[in-house]
Amino acid sequence: MKTKLAVMGLAASISVSSVAVADTEAMMQAAGKDIFNKCTACHSLDSSKNAFGPSLIGVYQRKAASLPRFAYSDALRNSDITWTAENLRKWIAGNDQFVPGTRMRHVEITDKAEQDYLIAYLKTL
Ligand code: HEC
Repeated sequence: MKTKLAVMGLAASISVSSVAVADTEAMMQAAGKDIFNKCTACHSLDSSKNAFGPSLIGVYQRKAASLPRFAYSDALRNSDITWTAENLRKWIAGNDQFVPGTRMRHVEITDKAEQDYLIAYLKTL
């Protein structure tokens, strides 16, 4: 009886914490969407459109410079980067330091929390 109660207690605490995690994820994505306003001048959310910058739909885990109809810089084309969370972080912290010679205008988001939010949002695209 004692064990059963303990197990039930454990199950209850697990489901409570997974709700909290889901909430946090949604909040991070929403905050990231706000920060993404810095990017929309050049990056369209319409997947069929390359604006001044390439479409970022599906960018997470995509190989850099891999969209067929966008004229990427040689620097990005030869970078051999895949857009993992870690590489996205380096890119938004200082794209032209990470990939010298990129055509994307300098972006510098150094706040770790802001980076987390933006990356959480980029993953949803
Ligand atoms: C002034 C226009 C401009 C702004 C603002 C801008 N970008 Fe870019 N972005 C570009 C261009 C142009 C490229 C292509 C770079 C190249 O070929 O070297 C690019 C490339 C990228 C790539 C690589 C895509 C791929 O297909 O490999 C990512 C990721 C990216 N930008 C994210 C962002 C994020 C996130 C922001 C906002 C914090 C942002 N960009 C702001 C113009 C912009």
